[in-house]
Amino acid sequence: MKIAVINFSGNVGKTTVARHLLVPRLPGAELVCVESINADDGQGQALRGRQFGELQEYLQTVESVVVDIGASNVEELLALMRKYRGSQEDFDCFIVPTVPALKQQQDTIATLVELAHIGVPASRLKVVFNMVEDGIEVGRAFDTLLAFVAELPIAQADMRCCLGDNEIYERVKGAGVDIAALARDSTDYKALIGKARSTEDKLALAQKLATSRLASGVLPELDACFAALGLTASGDAIAVSAPSATA
Ligand SMILES: Nc1ncnc2c1ncn2[C@@H]1O[C@H](COP(=O)(O)OP(=O)(O)OP(=O)(O)O)[C@@H](O)[C@H]1O
Ligand SMILES: [Mg+2]
Repeated sequence: MKIAVINFSGNVGKTTVARHLLVPRLPGAELVCVESINADDGQGQALRGRQFGELQEYLQTVESVVVDIGASNVEELLALMRKYRGSQEDFDCFIVPTVPALKQQQDTIATLVELAHIGVPASRLKVVFNMVEDGIEVGRAFDTLLAFVAELPIAQADMRCCLGDNEIYERVKGAGVDIAALARDSTDYKALIGKARSTEDKLALAQKLATSRLASGVLPELDACFAALGLTASGDAIAVSAPSATA
């Protein structure tokens, strides 16, 4: 399974979705950040043709990969995909995370339109509704985007593909830890807190306890969101073979 996580907008959760939703649930998947490919480039973030060539070559050599495309590279990447015709087919699926702010919903619509334009079919283009606040319905928070997709069904916008606003992502940011592993953490922090001598140690342990509890709480939501994405080896829904009509 080869997945691109993409949106013209920054800060919509591309890295979070790649790292915490997708990679841990795709056996053997590697994470590639397009931003880092040219981090040393004095010109800033723009993706160059040569690097895109390298990315395409790399995609032919791996079975399972999640490519996190930094917002500053999206425009360039799409231009290159147009140039290298058919290269969008290297990805089984394009996942587009989005957040409720109107500007981000509009950017998301622009992203979906661009991807459809370069030939990505609706079956391989999926929205993840991110940072949904407690008590707010997805349908209401994302009414602009949903109205657009209802009118022009160029992408799959399944409201079950959603993630709530949760502090856990900020806590684990950059730490390279797996949320499932944190949820499995069976350390008896309360006992450790009881034994800790200094307040500082107690607070550090209390932080770990809180993180582990948040991880346990968010895991079912991540699993449900991933299941609703319906990702399979072909990128399409699992085909149920109908019984043959011929004898
Ligand atoms: N569901 C969520 N709940 C709370 N915070 C979140 C959630 N998803 C992402 N965040 C936070 O929002 C910020 C932006 O997320 P992230 O870095 O994943 O976005 P991005 O689209 O990759 O941004 P960029 O375009 O800069 O690469 C981060 O601080 C992250 O921890
Ligand atoms: Mg990012």
